[in-house]
Amino acid sequence: MADRFLEGRVAVITGAGKGIGRAIALALAGAGAKLVLSDLTAAQVEETRKLAADAGAQCEAFGCDVREESQVRSLAEQVMQRFGGAHILVNNAGTAIRKKIHEFSLAEWRTVMETNLTGPFLMCRYFVPHMKGHGYGRIINLTSIMAHVSSDGRGIYSASKHGLLGLTRALALELADDGSPRSRSVPASSRRISPRRCVPTRRRALRCLRKRRSGATASPKKLRHWLFISVPTPRPTSPAAIC
Ligand SMILES: NC(=O)c1ccc[n+]([C@@H]2O[C@H](COP(=O)([O-])OP(=O)(O)OC[C@H]3O[C@@H](n4cnc5c(N)ncnc54)[C@H](O)[C@@H]3O)[C@@H](O)[C@H]2O)c1
Repeated sequence: MADRFLEGRVAVITGAGKGIGRAIALALAGAGAKLVLSDLTAAQVEETRKLAADAGAQCEAFGCDVREESQVRSLAEQVMQRFGGAHILVNNAGTAIRKKIHEFSLAEWRTVMETNLTGPFLMCRYFVPHMKGHGYGRIINLTSIMAHVSSDGRGIYSASKHGLLGLTRALALELADDGSPRSRSVPASSRRISPRRCVPTRRRALRCLRKRRSGATASPKKLRHWLFISVPTPRPTSPAAIC
């Protein structure tokens, strides 16, 4: 794999303070991308910023609660000012509350739906207009196997991820019809969304679930592999969801 194939690209990652978001950030740093690292507070993402900077990445940490429109708008403005634009948007920030649907309070419903669904919408609302016109763009929405199936106690999380998958598909259609050749590739990921094309992703998700049941977890290497497949594809494609 050609190293540093994202040299010069600016990647915005939400929820980058830990977990998958941090792994994504470090994978993109290794590929040469400049990083906009955001989490609920700038302090929460500082450790990831240090690790990415140690890996040689140009990066900055920002506080941004993706549920808050004013904070997302402000983040977009700061990114335009300091980085001149964004090429890759990773909607990773997410949350889950495990309990039965009838046990949820309205406040808990709002927390899950606003973090997992309103957040990516707001990020797209404020970043997509700036991503157009570069001739390159990728949006990666972190869904879940729960975007395809559901299970006891995961109903609201599952509903939010089903919604995010729908948003991703709609975005693919809207941006695929953009008309101008340059913006046809903005924003995109590895696969066009169609029921047939979704199958590999779904299979992968099911494999992942089976592994988790048997106690194994996806290794950082595997995660990087998925990301590299999903992010750098040069041909015009449409957004896909990572499960
Ligand atoms: N971990 C898994 O096995 C798994 C499986 C499928 C999908 N996912 C999805 O992948 C994403 C990352 O999962 P993870 O396990 O790394 O989660 P995590 O809980 O380890 O990290 C989530 C990050 O998002 C941040 N965050 C939460 N609410 C936020 C908000 N309103 N604004 C900004 N940042 C916020 C948190 O502070 C945290 O740093 C989530 O969207 C999750 O639903 C995770």
